[in-house]
Amino acid sequence: MTTSAETAVHNGKLFIHTVGCQMNELDSELVVAALRKHGYELTADVADADTVLFNTCSVREHAEHKIYSALGRLKYSKRKRPDQVIGVMGCMAQKDQKLIFQKAPHVDLVVGTGQLSEIPLLIDNARENRERQMAVSLARRDATRQKVADSFESYDPLRDPEMRHSAFQAYVRIMIGCDKFCTYCVVPMTRGPEQSRSPRHIVQEVQQLAAEGVKEVTLLGQTVNSYRHTEDGREYRLSDLIASFHDTPGLERIKFVTNYPRDMTDDLLQAVRDLPKVAHYLHVPAQSGCDEMLKRMKRGYTVEHYREMMHRIHETVPDCSVSSDFIVGFCGETDAAHEKSMELIREFRFKNSFIFKYSARTGTKADAIMLDDVPEETKRRRNNEMLDLQNEISEEDNAARIGREYDILVEGPSKSAVKAGDDDSIPQTQLSGRTRCDRIVVFDGNRRLTGSTTRVRIDDCTATTLIGTIVTRELQHTADGGLPILG
Ligand code: SAH
Ligand code: SF4
Ligand code: F3S
Repeated sequence: MTTSAETAVHNGKLFIHTVGCQMNELDSELVVAALRKHGYELTADVADADTVLFNTCSVREHAEHKIYSALGRLKYSKRKRPDQVIGVMGCMAQKDQKLIFQKAPHVDLVVGTGQLSEIPLLIDNARENRERQMAVSLARRDATRQKVADSFESYDPLRDPEMRHSAFQAYVRIMIGCDKFCTYCVVPMTRGPEQSRSPRHIVQEVQQLAAEGVKEVTLLGQTVNSYRHTEDGREYRLSDLIASFHDTPGLERIKFVTNYPRDMTDDLLQAVRDLPKVAHYLHVPAQSGCDEMLKRMKRGYTVEHYREMMHRIHETVPDCSVSSDFIVGFCGETDAAHEKSMELIREFRFKNSFIFKYSARTGTKADAIMLDDVPEETKRRRNNEMLDLQNEISEEDNAARIGREYDILVEGPSKSAVKAGDDDSIPQTQLSGRTRCDRIVVFDGNRRLTGSTTRVRIDDCTATTLIGTIVTRELQHTADGGLPILG
């Protein structure tokens, strides 16, 4: 039998560029794994590839601009290489659809977040027939919730260990979509209705990953703590789901992102407290510290609700670190409203905050009915002020950790080691890992410690990083059973 992969003429080189959130990183990982099975190999050089994919994000205009510019740069190279297939997948594909072909006529393929399993076939079709291919889900306003939900398929094929960015860390999707409809946000349109995956499938996936050597899983959902699924007559909340795979042998750490403040229930906090593998870390975006803004954003809570949630977190899990997201310059945000967000950061001293300038998005309620009236200059100033404040707090809180010791799950050579051209034939390097509270720690050690837990004393810090020294030298055996090495 001849497969279409064999008949389609391609040099087997695939270039993929991914932007956006962890959900996109996971999607790219899975799509590349599927394409490998069809004979593709990854290349880091776009000029070398005859299949080029962009996995895109629409959450802010800037992210879209960058993709359109990257597409623009390929226009001329494609004239010289008409056999090249260029595809746009992910959130921008679902949002812009045919507009992508209009803006970038040399694109062959537009594939939404709900059709990723079709990519290998669509690439073959595009190459064989030289015809544009488009596969997207239904728009939310165009059909019933159920029909729209059915048109978004959660893409979770069998995992390919070779494709993970780390041999011992993996993302696991537990939900797709979002039904919160915050007025500024495009995600309910690009990812479709909120749907929780079956606990049975998730548990199987975690067990498979752990059997392949994965020690840390990060569960993904737009509002991950809204997870709910009824199976075999039993309702599973996120706390039940975590409990049902927590004892998987080999698994050491469990994280979950991103949390929605209103769904931070006591059962979940108790699970974080009682289940030893769960990280003491919660990412719960506040978005604003001003009730009027929160109402305009339709976040569904007030500052007082958020405060009450923070108190419950600290009461139940006293050493839990919390990080947040903020939007500055949302429609109608005054200096006084901005000051309230600054006050919230001072009050809760987040581990870190992701701060974004409001970007009006077509298709959202804010774009339809509110005025994007904060000048860009003001947005930039507020963004910088907030960053400065958060950095100051992060640095102070990191400095308070100097002299303490932590068990660190080692992730591998640090970013600076990699940047400086880390040479993997030399065992000693600067390593990076995280505390149970998700704080990043760098220290010198043997790269073979990657994936193990090592005790580190903190000597110094910056706003984003703790800097330390290994205190217990773990005795390890080399892979070939040879001499023990010292970390
Ligand atoms: N599901 C997550 C967030 C997804 S988007 C949650 O609800 O927390 C990630 C972050 O991007 C959001 O938390 C928000 O701070 C920011 N964001 C979303 N839409 C935006 C917009 N239109 N302009 C600027 N920032 C935005
Ligand atoms: Fe967007 Fe709000 Fe849903 Fe988060 S909860 S994805 S910010 S609509
Ligand atoms: Fe962006 Fe889509 Fe994620 S819009 S933030 S890639 S869900």
